Amino acid sequence: MKHVKVMILCVFGASVLYGANTLIEKAKEHGLRAIPDNKKELLKLIDDPKDPITDAKVILGKKLYFDPRLSKSGLISCNTCHNLGLGGVDGLSVAIGNQWTPNPHHLNSPTVYNSVFFSAQFWDGRSPHLADQAMGPTLADAEMAATPEHIEGVVTSIPAYVSAFKKAYGANVKIDFAKITSTIAVFERILITPSRFDKFLNGHKEALSKAEKEGLNIFIDKGCAACHTGIALGGTMQPFEIAQKYKFANVGDFKGDKNGMVKTPTLRNITETAPYFHNGEVWSLKEAIKMMGSIQLGITIDDKDASKIETFLKALKGKKPLITYPQLPESTATTPKPIN
Ligand code: HEC
Ligand code: HEC
Repeated sequence: MKHVKVMILCVFGASVLYGANTLIEKAKEHGLRAIPDNKKELLKLIDDPKDPITDAKVILGKKLYFDPRLSKSGLISCNTCHNLGLGGVDGLSVAIGNQWTPNPHHLNSPTVYNSVFFSAQFWDGRSPHLADQAMGPTLADAEMAATPEHIEGVVTSIPAYVSAFKKAYGANVKIDFAKITSTIAVFERILITPSRFDKFLNGHKEALSKAEKEGLNIFIDKGCAACHTGIALGGTMQPFEIAQKYKFANVGDFKGDKNGMVKTPTLRNITETAPYFHNGEVWSLKEAIKMMGSIQLGITIDDKDASKIETFLKALKGKKPLITYPQLPESTATTPKPIN
């Protein structure tokens, strides 16, 4: 009898751990969501009926994303800090902008991949969406340090840009700062990276290995999915330093928003976006996982469990959209000169 009980327990335990159906349901119950594999469903999430995604806007937005002439120095583009070949980040602890100025709050550049799924942008969540967000960096002194007049001047002095705007929005388009930055944001909306994890959640039970499934199960059981949830496994404002202080809290002066809340970073492509945390002080993913246990959950995550979670997180590496480096239209005699 005793033996049978143990057997039942084992079968039950195993089904919770490895039974793919059960695990898919469990993940969904904990709020984890797949990037839809159906184009219509996906568009519902990334498109904006007021400013629909079109090829013309995406092509133009990509050029602007890569165009360093939008910066005061003529050297810095969005891609400088959010390098699309490097997981959408710069790989530095602290972002470096105009005239080698480090971010004044010692902030690390977050990835732009999948940022369309975030409900809050910036580490303190001060911007609700991408179009609004894109205005910030072009003007910030420690980033591109430009002015709206400089940016409008560059774009409107280049006939190929003017005709591209007309093609994207119609002949009467007003090419102003808001239009230029919102066009960059349309390009950013397509920067999504479906992974094997999405395949798994979408019902392909074998898309994750046994070890990855085990890692996912631990990730959920430890409580990580309480904050790293939704499609982005992040992107919402959450309290930080719940159970313990962050040991590098004094590097820079960032303390979250006015309520001490911090934007939860996405865990998609996390192996590509080191260093970690808002001030980029932690280079090892395993260490970041263990620190999350003590800082946020008040638990000790041992080496073995941290490795298992890491194995799962690696499965979040997604397929990047193919981005060909754009040829940018040439400057003219009236294009504002760089200022250094
Ligand atoms: C000098 C480096 C630098 C440049 C150039 C730069 N950014 Fe950023 N970006 C950052 C940093 C640092 C943050 C976080 C700042 C903060 O939270 O206050 C950020 C935040 C963001 C975010 C929010 C993501 C999130 O997870 O919160 C997006 C989206 C973004 N930038 C897009 C852009 C676009 C578009 C451009 C070009 C117009 C651009 N960035 C130029 C460094 C840069
Ligand atoms: C209460 C919410 C919460 C919980 C629970 C939580 N996190 Fe976090 N996580 C955050 C926030 C907020 C940050 C950003 C903190 C900062 O940099 O100031 C973060 C940062 C991270 C980072 C660094 C990401 C980067 O790009 O900088 C990793 C990795 C991470 N968490 C993994 C985990 C794991 C694994 C667990 C479970 C053991 C977990 N988190 C539990 C909210 C949470």
